[in-house]
Amino acid sequence: MKEHLTIVKHPLVQHKLTLMREKDTSTAKFRQLLREISLLLAYEVTRDLHMTTRRIETPLAEMDAPVLEGRKLALISILRAGNGLLDGMLELIPSARVGFIGLYRDEKTLQPVQYYFKVPANLEERFVIAVDPMLATGNSSAAAIDLLKKSGAKEIRFLCLLAAPEGVAHMKEAHPDVPIVTAALDQRLNEKGYIVPGLGDAGDRMFGTQ
Ligand code: URA
Repeated sequence: MKEHLTIVKHPLVQHKLTLMREKDTSTAKFRQLLREISLLLAYEVTRDLHMTTRRIETPLAEMDAPVLEGRKLALISILRAGNGLLDGMLELIPSARVGFIGLYRDEKTLQPVQYYFKVPANLEERFVIAVDPMLATGNSSAAAIDLLKKSGAKEIRFLCLLAAPEGVAHMKEAHPDVPIVTAALDQRLNEKGYIVPGLGDAGDRMFGTQ
């Protein structure tokens, strides 16, 4: 992936994102839209998975047909909102290994605090996709990528739904080798670190908490 930031402007993605942003969209609808949109974003973030060919026989002829290379995929959900993107991605790539990184944001400092870390073995051999719907300050995303790199990950992608310019800049500074795929780049962060116009707290909206 050549670009550091890829915005998926496909009409289906943009339409579903608009429905998710609306404040009166119900929790059930929000979850359904997130699952659908994650399938579409998964298509983009896996665009440069490594391919090889396999000799197969169709009913008419033999051919060397493209298949995914043996290198395994690892999906890493940044808790808790990452799980919303994870579910849809697992539908598309059911054999992917899955890891979780628990980071919460200290409301005062906006700095990430780690409370859970469990990832698949041999990350250095895997194509790793870290998922978190909201790239806001970039503090927790960059910290999560730091942890993945410390565990050996070399080829990493970051998938989110919405990004703020501040978060993209932070990630570019901290991890220029990690391409970001998002559905939209919003205007700014507010004083509480929320993305504006955004969609509010992604975790609260998908789990119905407050
Ligand atoms: N996390 C969220 O859930 N929403 C934001 O706008 C920023 C961070």
